[in-house]
Amino acid sequence: MTAKEPSEIATGPVSPRPSPSGTDAWGRLAALARDGGERAMADLFAADPGRAERYSLHCGDLFLDYAKNRVDDAVLAALVQLAEEMDLPAGIRALFAGEPLNVSEGRPALHVALRGSDRVAGAAGESLRTAVAAELARARDLAARVRAGTWRGVTGRAVSDVINIGIGGSDMGPRMLYHALRQYADPGIRCHFIANVDGAEIRSLLAGLDPETTLVIVASKSFTTHETRLNAGTTRDWFERTLGLPRAEVMGHFVAITENFAEARAFGIADQQLFRMWDWVGGRYSLWSSIGLAAMISIGPEAFGELLAGAAEMDAHFLSAPLVRNMPVILALLGIWYRNFLGAEAQAVVPYCERLGYFIGHLQQLDMESSGKSVSVDGEPLDYPTGTLVFGQTGTNGQHSFFQLIHQGTHLIPVDFIGVVDDPLSDPVHHQALLSHMLAQGAALMRGGDDPTLPPERRHPGNRPSNVLLLKGLTPRNLGALIALYEHKVFAQGWLWNINSFDQWGVELGKAIAGQLLAPGGDGLASIDPSTRRLLDIIQGSA
Ligand code: F6P
Repeated sequence: MTAKEPSEIATGPVSPRPSPSGTDAWGRLAALARDGGERAMADLFAADPGRAERYSLHCGDLFLDYAKNRVDDAVLAALVQLAEEMDLPAGIRALFAGEPLNVSEGRPALHVALRGSDRVAGAAGESLRTAVAAELARARDLAARVRAGTWRGVTGRAVSDVINIGIGGSDMGPRMLYHALRQYADPGIRCHFIANVDGAEIRSLLAGLDPETTLVIVASKSFTTHETRLNAGTTRDWFERTLGLPRAEVMGHFVAITENFAEARAFGIADQQLFRMWDWVGGRYSLWSSIGLAAMISIGPEAFGELLAGAAEMDAHFLSAPLVRNMPVILALLGIWYRNFLGAEAQAVVPYCERLGYFIGHLQQLDMESSGKSVSVDGEPLDYPTGTLVFGQTGTNGQHSFFQLIHQGTHLIPVDFIGVVDDPLSDPVHHQALLSHMLAQGAALMRGGDDPTLPPERRHPGNRPSNVLLLKGLTPRNLGALIALYEHKVFAQGWLWNINSFDQWGVELGKAIAGQLLAPGGDGLASIDPSTRRLLDIIQGSA
């Protein structure tokens, strides 16, 4: 492995940022919120016939309409001033230059290098790009051989089924790609995703598969994640049992995507079947690496290349567009306005395309693992809220569950609607219906209906904000741009909140306590609280 290690890529300490709450813009925004936070969007439209056009942006085949937000030019100017005072452009440059923005782990967050967009200078940059290209070529080669039927299992048969075993970012990214890009899938190869340690899932999956034609991808950056190890071990046992072959032989059916080659080797996976995920890529940003292998096998290396190209297009836009015309920045600033100045705690994401259903889960991890922080990059407690509760469902389904609360509840919940303009898998009648429902929801949320002749429970207050993102088609390229758009939105928000968007220490404590509960002989139970102990006793049948 020849890739530069993070210490070699990193270019030095990241310049300190001020606290956003101490900036002039913060005070200005607070005053604007006090004086007109309830801005009636209908009035803003009436006062400005050009609003729909002015409050919209293009990037490639993505179109963003952000006109239905409680902002006017004064609010937008103050938000842009905040981005300037926090020197967001320097942050964006630092991200692409591979500066060690993940301060708690002392490494850069260089997922943009996986799509060829990094700006790491000099020999370190060259070495990085060479290593990334070489690893991508290895993954492409494997995917091409599996698709062509020339990659054979231990009994000489081609692959019909791929199981991706991984969790979090080692699951949600490739799972989302596989489902979203169904139109491009090789119909002869089915992909399955096992994340949960719930044994009912792995058992029922394996019961329906033929080990002779099954390829397993163990996806785990650490290769120590408990759920993944248990599922991988169960699958290895299944191969040995059903094929009646020794472990060394069945391991030909396993590849690993990891940064812990030692553990993967110890599990039994041969060197030529180990792929790097890169130390400087966080799980939630890793689908662009070999972690995307299951999706690459399904859609093919060329389509996967298009996905990377779409993300690179969004990278170029993020790097070069002025703040006020920059799509990820505008989404980030709107989020800050609602979260920090109008008191919104949640954000709904509603794709009007069933194939984008798994995009919501991916976005939840991306946003909430990145922004669920309450100390600054310097470890200081924050005096302002961060992180937004991200939730959603595909439309129109969501309309029949949580939309009631968005329309008439007491929370302010901005919505991101995502629509696909052309869908060759649908038919014109259905597709027109689907998109009309999406537009109707946005219009209803904004307009409301306060006819005084209606009883109170039938009135809609309206003035509820939403964005609409239109993709010309659900192509690999446009999906790549969409995912990168949200990655950069989350990064921009994290920069403005002065937090580290790239660590996730909050998930560790629960893992440690699970380890105590699972320790042989109950050794770890001494410090367990009485409630947890009693529940454990009930589960174990001793109470
Ligand atoms: O539990 C959180 C987490 O560390 C995620 O950030 C990560 O995507 C997931 O676990 C899986 O980790 P690994 O790839 O090391 O198995």
